[in-house]
Amino acid sequence: MGGALAHGALDRWEGRRVEEWARRWGVPLVEAHEELTSTNDRLRSLADAGAEPFTVVTADSQTQGKGRGGKRWQSPSGMGLWMSFLLRSGSHAPPTLVPILVGLAAVRALDRLCPSLRPGIKWPNDIEVEGRKLGGILCESTLTGAVVVGVGINLRQGIEDFDPELKERAASLEMAGCRDVSRSGIVTELLRASRSLLDPPARLLDQRLKQAVWDRDVLNGRFVAAEVAIAGKVVRIVGKAVGIGADGALLVDVEGRIREVRTGSVTVVDGRPTQPTMNRPGGA
Ligand code: BTN
Repeated sequence: MGGALAHGALDRWEGRRVEEWARRWGVPLVEAHEELTSTNDRLRSLADAGAEPFTVVTADSQTQGKGRGGKRWQSPSGMGLWMSFLLRSGSHAPPTLVPILVGLAAVRALDRLCPSLRPGIKWPNDIEVEGRKLGGILCESTLTGAVVVGVGINLRQGIEDFDPELKERAASLEMAGCRDVSRSGIVTELLRASRSLLDPPARLLDQRLKQAVWDRDVLNGRFVAAEVAIAGKVVRIVGKAVGIGADGALLVDVEGRIREVRTGSVTVVDGRPTQPTMNRPGGA
């Protein structure tokens, strides 16, 4: 697909023409920008104007990069991969499941590029390494029911590059010893893994996918606090995380009863840093 470049879009990215990346990745359109407010916002506009599934938007920097829950996502130029891609509408995947599957795609992509890293997935949308956040996923629905999948992965930051409140809990690939990983390498592997997991999106995790997610679930066995709706009321629960259910809900054992957490976020309350655990399917 060729055609005129959108206002402010670059004709080259990572040493190649954007059309060449689109051809290599087998996607309908790649829009690369030096700066955007947010790749998710730009892709949402494209989607509302009829963009096709797997349209990709990247930005070297974002001035209003967004995280979940209205948090700001620090997106400085040259430091990381800030990108979004579009999943088609008509999917019946539960909203909790898509970020988990993209998380799995992201860890699989990183496994291929940096085999020693072994990143984990922290429900609902974080990529972690050694208890620190390496990346995050923000999925947003469009007017037409498609899903904008935003992925941010820290590549080149040193600890001094993070805002003060992030210094204790953020990481980059370089900090984790993976140098020379390119943004284009990650997008190539991420799109490959995402296609096999999300095109079409699964409605539920089957046993094989459950196992794959649970092998990377850094919360498993940890004590967590979360807010859940019980009988129409929002209640704070504290219990042991025991896995991720078929629809992507976090399963928390509260005094022997399994509660399913589908919204919000969780806080680890046992004071240890999170690490990926090898675990076996069980529970719900
Ligand atoms: C989170 O951890 O809360 C999600 C962070 C998602 C950040 C990415 S960067 C590319 C895309 N554009 C955004 O504004 N956010 C996502």
